Amino acid sequence: MPTSATRPAAAARPSADGVWTSLRGVDGQAVALVVQGGVLRWVGAPDAVPAQHAALPRHDGGGALVTPGLVDCHTHLVYGGQRASEFAMRLAGASYEEVARAGGGIVSTVRATREASEDALFDSASARLVSLLADGVCAIEIKSGYGLSLADERKQLRVARRLAAAHGVTVRTTFLGAHALPPEYAGRPNGSGDYIDAVCRDMLPALHAEGLVDAVDVFCERIAFSLAETEQVFQAAQGLGIPVKLHAEQLSDMGGAALAARYGALSCDHIEHLSQAGIDAMKQSGTVAVLLPGAYYTLRDTHLPPIEALRAAGVPMAVSTDHNPGTSPALSLVLMVNMACTLFRLTVPEALAGVTTHAARALGLQATHGALIVGQPANFVLWRLGSADELAYWFGQRPVKCVVRQGRVAEGAL
Ligand code: NIG
Ligand code: FE
Repeated sequence: MPTSATRPAAAARPSADGVWTSLRGVDGQAVALVVQGGVLRWVGAPDAVPAQHAALPRHDGGGALVTPGLVDCHTHLVYGGQRASEFAMRLAGASYEEVARAGGGIVSTVRATREASEDALFDSASARLVSLLADGVCAIEIKSGYGLSLADERKQLRVARRLAAAHGVTVRTTFLGAHALPPEYAGRPNGSGDYIDAVCRDMLPALHAEGLVDAVDVFCERIAFSLAETEQVFQAAQGLGIPVKLHAEQLSDMGGAALAARYGALSCDHIEHLSQAGIDAMKQSGTVAVLLPGAYYTLRDTHLPPIEALRAAGVPMAVSTDHNPGTSPALSLVLMVNMACTLFRLTVPEALAGVTTHAARALGLQATHGALIVGQPANFVLWRLGSADELAYWFGQRPVKCVVRQGRVAEGAL
């Protein structure tokens, strides 16, 4: 795997300007694209490329499948250490909740993240990002939530911003201060309440003022924060005009999705235990359902998210890696496409929309990402595949031929 040290700086990569021909769209039809000044100028049938683009260089795609750049809309990419030993504990029979209650879980990553310098966090996250980008990711969400103090949450979010600049990828940052109770609050009579007060009163306003917060998330769960605490964080976010999202109904039905919908949440994520009332509320508010097959798989969960009911209600479904060291050490969004189909029974078009258009919407990026959008910076992927079905079918290979990210040939070559 190339490391961040061996890759050319984002700005040094070749321009993608030109007429891209011999491509096949996800519908199987021949398609051509025109990129000029790094912007996608035109999409259409190969024999209809407007004459005004005739002088541009031509890039022959050799019949490659072309899709929009992928969007990974839920990751915890920046953290210290890793948790392979907990994986082994769980294999020996311990549940995720038991590991968390025994002082492992999120809090052990908090320890390692606090100990790591900003540069060390940047280097380790950079290496992981390289793997995700190699799968055609052009926009990614990165959450904090392993610092759990103002200084350490800031450190994570600053790294997320640096990753965007260094790798030439769109990054949306999400403040997840309400991810777990920090150890220094754990023994207090009102530890959870005190910590949520600090999240709302001190941490969120300060990080927002520094331009580090694009959205706010909470882990609403029995082993994390209550519905009332979640609402307190949502109110603070709303007061600052920041959109919210929620880790909702992963291990139990807390009613989090309906609450999030009341706050116009961009997305509710995990949702294995989502109720019909939650689905109806999400439909009304236009909230995206983010499915995370990597966490479902790693936890050897058996409680499927209510896919049929989400489909029937017309709630948009996104698919993401949920990359994190505890429950989803996944570094391939293409693998998640396969798993969303195999484990969750999404159709191929649903899974593809899940990592493109609906994922973009889960980040509020639908105007710029997740589709071939004329007038926007060019973000698209050429695949060494004959059809969209193949994208979901193979697993374990890296079928990317070439990625155009922000108007530059960022991975591979023609
Ligand atoms: O998305 N659900 C909570 N947060 C993460 C897990 C984080 C961890 O275990 O470190 C998730 O699965
Ligand atoms: Fe998560």
